[in-house]
Amino acid sequence: MDNRSIGIFDSGIGGLTSTAYIIEELPKERIVFFGDTARTPYGSKSPEKIRQFSMQIGQFMADNDVKMMVIACNTISATALEDLREKFPEIPIIGVISPTARVIANQCRPEDHIGIMATRATVKSGVYLQKIREKNPSLTHLYQKECQAIVPLVEEGITGSVMDELLHYYLDDFIAENELDTLVLGCTHFPIVAANIHRLFPDVRLISSSREIATAVSIELKKRNMEAEKKSGENVFYASDISDSFMNMIQLILGESKDKLNIQFKNLDL
Ligand code: DGL
Repeated sequence: MDNRSIGIFDSGIGGLTSTAYIIEELPKERIVFFGDTARTPYGSKSPEKIRQFSMQIGQFMADNDVKMMVIACNTISATALEDLREKFPEIPIIGVISPTARVIANQCRPEDHIGIMATRATVKSGVYLQKIREKNPSLTHLYQKECQAIVPLVEEGITGSVMDELLHYYLDDFIAENELDTLVLGCTHFPIVAANIHRLFPDVRLISSSREIATAVSIELKKRNMEAEKKSGENVFYASDISDSFMNMIQLILGESKDKLNIQFKNLDL
């Protein structure tokens, strides 16, 4: 048993989608969330920059004495997971890509055509393709699509017709040309527009990285006997810029009024 907090982080608000699932699945766990809203998006930045920012967040989480770090960001998982594990060897660190790849490997059949939507950095890293092939070599119809511009629109809370246009721009040819039957939401910002994708492309099955990580966290805590006996305090949500859009989105994603949430400003860029 371990009543210390779980540290969850993302480049921005996307990680809140995973956090919502984790809170639902593990209500006794205290969460310390950090979203780097001042420096988002990460997916369009160089690996060096993403690593530098990720190390700062890792240090902040270690300073908060978290018992586990959860990288609720595909881009950081693809770019800086190994560096974080090397720098903080005493803290278990779970990335979002392996659990999602495991679900794809288990649920998909060899004849399925699987498209991975992700940020530019995640696509460039090729980590999704590598992990899926490792776990199930019979899945050979794998395709990737960089969908970077969805991230700033989500951060802005734009999910209406402008988002639909953008989804058509990214997905029409991608789905048709590759005869896709499955789309992987390989960025934790994308579940926020899952309903749009489902409405525009109803025949395509969606697999969400945000949901899969919650199950992985639960399994890992049990395996290590690190589950909390009781909640040790209220959840805290740190952001490097507490903007209006952050406030709107946190309420929307967590389904709580902002007055009930402990939201704090934290600048890591010192
Ligand atoms: N939410 C993130 C992910 O899962 C990153 C988005 C970004 O900062 O570009 O990849």
